[in-house]
Amino acid sequence: MDAREMKVKAAQAALAYVEDGMRLGIGTGSTADEFVRLLAEKVHGGFKVEGVPTSERTARLCVELGIPLKSLEELPELDLTIDGADEVDAKLTLIKGGGGALLREKIVAAASARMIVIADESKLVDMLGAYPLPIEINPFGQTATQIAIEKAASRLGLTGELKLRKSGAEVFTTDGGHYIFDASFGRIPDAEALSAELNFIPGVVEHGLFIHMASLAIIAGEAGARTLEAK
Ligand code: A5P
Repeated sequence: MDAREMKVKAAQAALAYVEDGMRLGIGTGSTADEFVRLLAEKVHGGFKVEGVPTSERTARLCVELGIPLKSLEELPELDLTIDGADEVDAKLTLIKGGGGALLREKIVAAASARMIVIADESKLVDMLGAYPLPIEINPFGQTATQIAIEKAASRLGLTGELKLRKSGAEVFTTDGGHYIFDASFGRIPDAEALSAELNFIPGVVEHGLFIHMASLAIIAGEAGARTLEAK
């Protein structure tokens, strides 16, 4: 089974948790895209959902495939969000934001009664941090914010390059008009402490650590999809 087939398996398993009439947060990324494709088939078969997309990219795919969408303003309380992740640990703490949608993803997940993460088994890790942590920042004072992040990280014994994300020759801009630093800490032993430090920095809009948000992970591997519950 290749990585794409595993993503499809995880997305298929997630469909079992989607009930008719649900208000659904719809994630961003290649795994979430597979979920959108499968959900669209159910919608064409008469299944009713109202989706709130976590990015302009996901919104475009949903519109293309005929999934009815609402804004979070129209549907501020959601039943369930299904989304991918860049890393998942045993407590279901996540690193997200590889696709640049972490701010909307976190707002939508927080507005949902439940978040289920879908991933192939390559995303499951013993300790978070091998994948660079996306940190969304306001463009104003980006160097001051970079220094503040480096100091905060070093108080926790973390070092590593902070790389301003680019899209070709241009600085990558999020749907909210912000920039992203990808922080290569290598290992993040205490995600809660790092989250608290980052949240304290005014120029940090949001970061990609999702803590106590996902209650279930559907992890697909060669043997099929299995579920992990938050401990
Ligand atoms: C988007 O900003 C991310 O949080 C994605 O959910 C994450 O990067 C997983 O993407 P893939 O499913 O493409 O690996």
